[in-house]
Amino acid sequence: MEITVQGNAKVKGKVKISGSKNAALPIICASILNRGKVILRNIPRISDVFDMCNILKYLNCKVKFKGNTLIIMSKNIVYKPLLLEECKKIRASYYFIGVFLFLFKKCEILLPGGCKIGSRPIDYHIKAFQDIGFKCSIKDNILTVVGTQDDEVFDVTLVNKSVGTTMNIILAGLGFKQGCIRNSLIEPECEDLISFLNIIGFNIENTSSNVVIKAHNKINTKIKYEIIPDRIEAMTYTVLGLLCGDLVINKCNPKHLLSPLNILKEAGYKLDFKQECLHVYKSVGNQINIKTDVYPGFPTDLQPIFGVLASQTKNISSIEENIFDNRMQIYNDLIVSNVECIIDKNNVKIIPANIISKDYTVYDLRHGAAVLLLALIGNGSSKISNFELVLRGYENILQKLSKIGIYVKS
Ligand code: EPU
Repeated sequence: MEITVQGNAKVKGKVKISGSKNAALPIICASILNRGKVILRNIPRISDVFDMCNILKYLNCKVKFKGNTLIIMSKNIVYKPLLLEECKKIRASYYFIGVFLFLFKKCEILLPGGCKIGSRPIDYHIKAFQDIGFKCSIKDNILTVVGTQDDEVFDVTLVNKSVGTTMNIILAGLGFKQGCIRNSLIEPECEDLISFLNIIGFNIENTSSNVVIKAHNKINTKIKYEIIPDRIEAMTYTVLGLLCGDLVINKCNPKHLLSPLNILKEAGYKLDFKQECLHVYKSVGNQINIKTDVYPGFPTDLQPIFGVLASQTKNISSIEENIFDNRMQIYNDLIVSNVECIIDKNNVKIIPANIISKDYTVYDLRHGAAVLLLALIGNGSSKISNFELVLRGYENILQKLSKIGIYVKS
């Protein structure tokens, strides 16, 4: 999909933040754990969610959208090897491993593909499954994990901080009488999964960096749950407001945004927060200095987006990417658009300059959001190709933009 964007954009109005992609995906997957009815509110209508729903339908579940409410009925779920194209397409399909280990004590699944932001293996997940007693083997790109049934208690220390591994081991550990996951990484999306699982009837405690799973009693077969707001979408529109106008960002949770909000405050931007609403205006900050880190540190997903903001500050900014090994594409786009960026592996210094519009190609979801911001502050018009990647994670982005005065030709 190619879009054409006009630069010198001005935005004014309100944007309502959608439900979190990275919370919705594991929670939709976990909705089959109760073999009953789950009603999920605030689900973003984005392509990754549709892919996840297709996998559920393949497993004999009924899945129905009403606006942003998703109704999932999994009474008739059946075991099938997960060899669908969707499993390769969306990384979050790996949450089916944990869910299937609880439901069926086995899982066969196509390995999720690599992606443009780095190699993205699932070796941490596999090591942790093995450490808690499951047997794993890989043949022809298919991972098979089987349970031994006899382990009742586990105590595992995750070798590396990984939010995906933490969530998968929580799911795989639900069938045990007791479990402890040490060195876990609890991001807000993982907290949301834990709350959801506890509403189903599981018994999970999150104590700083350890997660404790205790035996569960009754599983509720009818539940309702509302997904948290998307913190990355909220900050994407915040940066848009700081670059292009006067925006009220509605329905965001400031508690999930402490690190990026601090960076903006340190740079001198004015942020007006009233409960769940953030009001921002076009302004020029001093500089952006960030080092991405695991939560509550600065989120890697916002790094390219803040990179574009850094090109419009008063002073030289510096950015360091520490989570993914190949997430620096936006700085090449900035360079061709007149901004001097001195790139040294995963570090970059950005010397602010006016943007000369060019055409751009999107490499991944967050790079796409950053490229869109770059095109909007250019001096002319830009074509952006591969824009469908942005639709993986930003609900109704073109409609939301048109409501605040940006008309994109697609
Ligand atoms: N890693 C491995 N092996 C593994 C697992 C992770 O090497 O088995 C590496 C990753 O490649 C990465 C680091 O460890 O370099 C951290 O990965 P983590 O497991 O914490 O992240 P993830 O579960 O793969 C999720 C989000 C990402 C987000 C990160 C960090 C989903 C589906 N993805 O990835 O979201 O960047 O956490 O917050 O929830 C996005 O939304 O654009 C996106 C990439």
